[in-house]
Amino acid sequence: MILVTGGAGYIGSHYVMQAIEAGESVVVLDNLAYGHREAVVDGAELIVGDMSDRGLLDQIFSQHRIDAVVHFAAFAYVGESVTAPRKYYLNNTVATLNVLNAMVDHGVLKFVFSSTCATYGNPQYMPIDEKHPQSPINPYGESKFFVEKMLQAYNNAYGLRFCALRYFNAAGADPEGKIGESHDPETHLIPLVLQTATGQRDTISIFGTDYDTPDGTCIRDYIHILDLARAHGLSLKRLRDGAESGFFNLGTETGISVTEVIETCRRITGKPIPTLFKDRRPGDPARLVASATKARTELGWEPQFADLDSIVRTAWTWEQNRRY
Ligand SMILES: NC(=O)c1ccc[n+]([C@@H]2O[C@H](COP(=O)([O-])OP(=O)(O)OC[C@H]3O[C@@H](n4cnc5c(N)ncnc54)[C@H](O)[C@@H]3O)[C@@H](O)[C@H]2O)c1
Repeated sequence: MILVTGGAGYIGSHYVMQAIEAGESVVVLDNLAYGHREAVVDGAELIVGDMSDRGLLDQIFSQHRIDAVVHFAAFAYVGESVTAPRKYYLNNTVATLNVLNAMVDHGVLKFVFSSTCATYGNPQYMPIDEKHPQSPINPYGESKFFVEKMLQAYNNAYGLRFCALRYFNAAGADPEGKIGESHDPETHLIPLVLQTATGQRDTISIFGTDYDTPDGTCIRDYIHILDLARAHGLSLKRLRDGAESGFFNLGTETGISVTEVIETCRRITGKPIPTLFKDRRPGDPARLVASATKARTELGWEPQFADLDSIVRTAWTWEQNRRY
């Protein structure tokens, strides 16, 4: 049985859906701070509670035969992490430490972790591979970087084996439209553009049009949520097969600009989508593109929806029929 923290959130809920389809028994722990009860598919047990609650974790590990934890729970607003770092270090680092300690004490020694490309900081070369120096430039990135350090130490001292997955930009939705992305506030580009298409927002802001990129806007690596979720199943298999711990980038290795995203959304939705040009935001690098060779070779992972159209189509289906 797997414990999935944050399994009522965007990425976690898509992973839980796949895990249930694969025949896994799943317990979700989510405090619903940002998650949605409706996002947890039938077949998974949802426990509403906080990962900082050690008594609750003891109860969960005592009452269920859990062999691994897949850990999505965290706060993930980079801007907020700068103005409220306390919240981020407490939840993303300290509460994660609480989960790791409970695991070690209960002899649960397999851990899949949602890390982030934000642990790299400003890129020194492109594409970014796992050997790229890590120098996060905000408390969010640091809060995850510290967990990576703890994981290495716990691996060495207590035999806790892990896969730390450094995601690039998660996007898209379950193609059947059962679940999808629903953040409040929303800060991710594709849902914001599509909400402009539906008229929920008047315009979409483009921050910076003078970057050293072909069309002047920022370039990111968008990975379909189902491909991202599948990497967690493969990571768990790797750990269950007895392989050693590792850090893996997850991205499609394709750079897509903000303008390309907006053009694709215009084509797929058939809506005009008005834009507003604004100044660059501090801390936004021009380009962030992954090298995911390690995930391909060591996890056997291959993106199946590696084109922007698949991402935008599934996100658009969700946006028009969202349930939460
Ligand atoms: N979305 C992305 O593009 C992206 C990129 C890199 C890394 N990540 C990481 O992936 C993970 C999931 O991201 P997401 O976009 O699904 O975010 P999300 O906010 O949709 O999901 C996080 C979930 O964790 C829950 N949670 C938070 N703190 C908790 C606590 N103390 N106890 C119990 N539950 C708690 C929230 O209620 C939410 O359901 C996060 O760790 C995030 O940092 C996301």
